[in-house]
Amino acid sequence: MKKRRKIHEGKAKILYEGPTTGTIIQHFKDDATAFNGERHEVIDGKGVLNNRITEYIFLAMEEIGVATHFIKRLNMREQLIKKVDIIPLEVVVRNVIAGSLAKRLGMQEGIKLSRSIVEYYYKDDALNDPMVTDEHITAFEWATATELEDMVATALRVNDFLTGLFRGIGIQLVDFKLEFGRHFENGNLRILLADEFSPDNCRLWDIKTGEKLDKDRFRQNLGGLVDAYQEVARRLGILNENGDIIDSDDAKNDKPTLVK
Ligand code: TMP
Ligand code: ASP
Repeated sequence: MKKRRKIHEGKAKILYEGPTTGTIIQHFKDDATAFNGERHEVIDGKGVLNNRITEYIFLAMEEIGVATHFIKRLNMREQLIKKVDIIPLEVVVRNVIAGSLAKRLGMQEGIKLSRSIVEYYYKDDALNDPMVTDEHITAFEWATATELEDMVATALRVNDFLTGLFRGIGIQLVDFKLEFGRHFENGNLRILLADEFSPDNCRLWDIKTGEKLDKDRFRQNLGGLVDAYQEVARRLGILNENGDIIDSDDAKNDKPTLVK
């Protein structure tokens, strides 16, 4: 096989040049980091689960008309995506007080917000991803006012849809982070939902027990990260009772086969 050209290696994923112009292969690693890479561990099986969970969520997004960079899953750890220019922002939506919001404002984790909050962080590891406002975003031209409006509307739509989807499987969607990219096709510019949606970049709490089913298990040294991600995948119908991935390596299938 021809050696693939690596385009970028991040903390949890690697991007390789895709087979055709305008495509990229997104590879999910087992690496987990926290506190801007200060803590790092390799957690067997995390990449495989995040590849599948992201595929499931992005296909669901496409079904409700949210355009994403996702094309198809290639194998256990990789998916084919459309090439985009990533907008250097993390768009965070919060429904419940947790994480940095609780810390920054000295508030108790777990209190439901009276309305959802959208926050923006400027993607820059050297600066530790500082929080910014719409004023900074437009003044520094990280995104135009129209692009920002588009991203916020999409983020809120994703929030409504996924809150319901997770509630249906007994999980509270506490907060999550999205990234967007600009995609050029046939001379048109479009903003696409990019990156990933997995328990690495959202908070998911079991509604009955309050148990954390996300990366806070790693950040807070709770252990059992893969078990938690597996539980999310199982409830989404991606894993069967034995913990095996359904339709594990069938690259011909564009959609995962779900167990009922
Ligand atoms: P925070 O409470 O630490 O600000 O995180 C808010 C949400 O964003 C949470 O679901 C985790 C996610 N997140 C990332 O995906 N990447 C990051 O680098 C950080 C800090 C948070
Ligand atoms: N992703 C960030 C890091 O690698 C922070 C986090 O997820 O908590 O450090």
